[in-house]
Amino acid sequence: MDVSITPASSLNGAVRLPGDKSISHRYGMLSAIAEGPSTLHNYSTGADCHSTLNCMESLGIAIERDGTDIIVQGQGLHGLKEFAGILDAGNSGSTIRMLSGILAGQQFTSRIEGDESLARRPMARIMKPLAEMGAVISARDSSYTPLVIQGRKLKAIDYTSPVASAQVKSCILFAGLYADGVTTVRESIKTRDHSEIALEGFGAEIKVIGKNVSITGGKPLTGRELTIPGDLSSAAFFLVAATMAKQARVLITGVGLNPTRSALLDFLVGGGANIKIQDIRSDGGELTGDLLVQNAKFQGGFVDRDLAAALIDELPVLAVLAATSENGMTVRDAAELRVKETDRIATVAENMRRMGIEISTFEDGFHVPGKQQFQGAEVESFGDHRIAMAFAVAGLSATGQTIVKEAEAASVSFPEFYNLLNHLRG
Ligand code: S3P
Repeated sequence: MDVSITPASSLNGAVRLPGDKSISHRYGMLSAIAEGPSTLHNYSTGADCHSTLNCMESLGIAIERDGTDIIVQGQGLHGLKEFAGILDAGNSGSTIRMLSGILAGQQFTSRIEGDESLARRPMARIMKPLAEMGAVISARDSSYTPLVIQGRKLKAIDYTSPVASAQVKSCILFAGLYADGVTTVRESIKTRDHSEIALEGFGAEIKVIGKNVSITGGKPLTGRELTIPGDLSSAAFFLVAATMAKQARVLITGVGLNPTRSALLDFLVGGGANIKIQDIRSDGGELTGDLLVQNAKFQGGFVDRDLAAALIDELPVLAVLAATSENGMTVRDAAELRVKETDRIATVAENMRRMGIEISTFEDGFHVPGKQQFQGAEVESFGDHRIAMAFAVAGLSATGQTIVKEAEAASVSFPEFYNLLNHLRG
C-alpha cells in the first residue's frame, strides 16, 4: 500500500494511542505463565504484540480478544504445552528474544522463527546467556532464525550484558524464573525497566539495585488485571509532527511516562519543544500522563552513550525533526540502529536524500545539518514501521506530495497511525 502525504501547516485535536508495545509483550507473556486469568486493557493493536499472543496460543494458552481487552488464561510456570509446529514471531524481535527465555526453561523443545527482517537480526546475544543457564539452542550460522530451543532445568547465572538491550535483559530474567537460585543481570547502560515492573507486579521475587537486577527462580506468578498506557514511542511521531508544524495544538492522552523511556521528552523539551505533561498517574507501577504539544522552534542536539540507548526507537523521527531544526543533530554510539527491523542508519539516510536532505552517516550514527527543507518525493518504508511513520511526518512539512511505499509497515506497532494523522490535520 502506498500512502500519499500532502503538506499540512496545522495539526489540531486530541488522540489516544494504542497500548505500549514493550509493555504489551511483557504482560502477554507473563500472564500466560502466571496462575489464573489476567485481564489486559488497552493491549497494543500492533501486529508485533499479536505475534506474542499467537505464540502463547500455540503453546496451549487460551486467549480471548475483545478489541483491545485481552483475557489470558494463565497456566502457571509449567503449564505451557509443546508445539509441534514452528512458533511464528512475525516481525517482532521482542517476541523471539523474550519468549526464548521462557522456552529455555520448559521441559520440551521449541522451534521459533519470523519474517525476512527478523531472519537478519542477531540472536547470539540471547543464545549465549541461555546456553550458560543450561539450555541447548541451535541457530542458522550460530545466530539467526530459525532457533531450536531445547528447554532444560536452568541454572542461575550472574551475567554482565555486553549490549544495551532490554530484550536481552528480559530474556535472561524470564529464564531466571525457571532457574535454581538467584539470576542477576548487570547492565552498563540502564535500559527500559518494564520487565522488572511487570515481574514485580505478577508476584516474582525481584530486586533492582542500580543497573543490576536479580530474580529468584521457582516462585509462581499470579494473574492480574492491568491497563497498558499509550505508547510513548508512537506518540513520538505526533510530538515531532506538531513541533515542526507552523501551527499545532495536539493533546495525546494516557501516554506511558516510564522514566526509562521518557528521555525523549527531556530531549525534545531541552531543545525547545513546547510539551506540557499533565495529570500524571500510575497503573500497575507504570507512570501515565497526558501530553499537550504545540509548535515550537527546535534547536537540535547531540546524542551519544546512554542517551543513544534511551532514544533508540525514536532516532528515525528525531532525524526528521533535526533537518528542520536550527542547529541539526549528531548521533553517535548508536550502532544498534543497524540491527533493528532495518539498518536504520542506512534507511533513514536513503529517504532523507530522496527528500533533498543532506545527511552524513557513520558506522555508529549520523549527522543531519539544520535549517533544511524537505522536498516531496517517493520514499520507502523498507518494511520498517518506524521508517514508514518517520517519513510520513517528513512529508507533512515538505514542498509537494510525498509517497510512502509499503506504508502498511506502520501496523507492526501502530495500525491507527495514518487515520489519527488525518484526524489531526482536520
Ligand atoms: C524493546 C527494546 C529495544 C527496542 C524495541 C523494544 C523492548 O530493543 O528497540 O523496540 O521492549 O525491550 P533492544 O532490546 O534490542 O535494544
